[in-house]
Amino acid sequence: MYNEGMLRDNALKGKTILVTGGGTGLGRAMSKYFLQLGANVIIASRKLPVIEQAAKELQEEAGGTVLGLSCDVRIYDEVEKMVNAGIEKFGKIDVLVNNAAGNFVSPTERLSHRAIDTVVDIVLRGSYNCTLALGKKWIAEKQKGAVLSIVTTYAWTGSGYVVPSAMAKAGVLAMTRSLAAEWGRNGIRLNAIAPGPFPTEGAFSRLFPAEVAKMMDPKTKIPLGRYGELQELANLAAYLVSDFSSYVNGDVVTIDGGEWLYGGGEFNMFSHIPKEMWDMLEEAIRSTNKKSKE
Ligand code: HXC
Ligand code: NAP
Repeated sequence: MYNEGMLRDNALKGKTILVTGGGTGLGRAMSKYFLQLGANVIIASRKLPVIEQAAKELQEEAGGTVLGLSCDVRIYDEVEKMVNAGIEKFGKIDVLVNNAAGNFVSPTERLSHRAIDTVVDIVLRGSYNCTLALGKKWIAEKQKGAVLSIVTTYAWTGSGYVVPSAMAKAGVLAMTRSLAAEWGRNGIRLNAIAPGPFPTEGAFSRLFPAEVAKMMDPKTKIPLGRYGELQELANLAAYLVSDFSSYVNGDVVTIDGGEWLYGGGEFNMFSHIPKEMWDMLEEAIRSTNKKSKE
């Protein structure tokens, strides 16, 4: 059953978790599960009405306390204000989830330099702004902390048509691994999750617009033949921000149904060959073998 919560009740009790972009999509799903597990949650993004509505609904659905704040993660002053407002409300922040992102598909030569800046600034600058603002506080106050960044598998494979996002996610992964080594001694862990496709409105409207969806089905690249479920992602995230993962530091966990490996394996597209063709193929290969021995 992949729609069930995984951790025991109150597994996150006493923790305050800041989720950037927590008003929609994956951020919202993670926030909901963190609340169900007893955490206080701060959600923040640019659109205050969306955040306020989400905060209200999350509290009704999951209980607990949610603080909704407006913040553009590209702007360091706004990030500091967000962090200070969270600390003022809850006394401390224990976990940062770098989830806010911007992305859209486009041939790279069609992009203006401003378009590239926009995506890179939201994803990379936004993630290091938030990580730095909280990391400074944690270290100054000798407080433990955990950072979880949501990247994606093309952070290491790269991908055409989403080049600004690929460059920025690769940077976030490098930050995760670098700071895991540097800040581990301060009791600060950094990890990442690399999801494959999860059907959220924000991502799918910009990456698989209706016209594209008519031409190709992303599920055909996924060995498990389906998209991820929000609860599956939330379960993994909750584990990685909880004390159950205290010894996991600097890692990236892929949750993509096997998609990126399928794309990399030379012969994996043979899964498109119908079963009944294999007798004929085997015979043809055997006969070539036989001829080569003659
Ligand atoms: C070319 C485009 C464009 C497009 C915008 N621009 N859309 N260029 N093709 N489709 C250009 C604009 O013309 C402008 O450049 C520059 O980008 C900034 O655009 P704005 O609209 O002013 O930016 P802003 O309002 O800040 O919005 C940012 C955004 C938008 C990224 C463009 O899409 C957004 O708000 N996204 C947030 C949510 C999101 O993207 N979620 C999906 C994450 S999914 P000029 O030169 O004209 O000034 C994800 C999944 C990855 O990351 C993995 C999946 C498997
Ligand atoms: P989403 O709903 O569009 O989430 C993106 C969030 O980022 C929005 O809530 C948006 O809110 C916020 N945001 C954008 N720019 C911001 C800024 N400058 N400052 C603060 N917040 C900002 O998409 P999603 O699918 O849930 O994506 C969530 C995360 O998962 C992203 O990191 C994405 O790269 C990653 N991911 C998603 C998939 C997938 O298939 N869905 C796959 C791999 C990775 P505002 O517009 O209000 O600012």
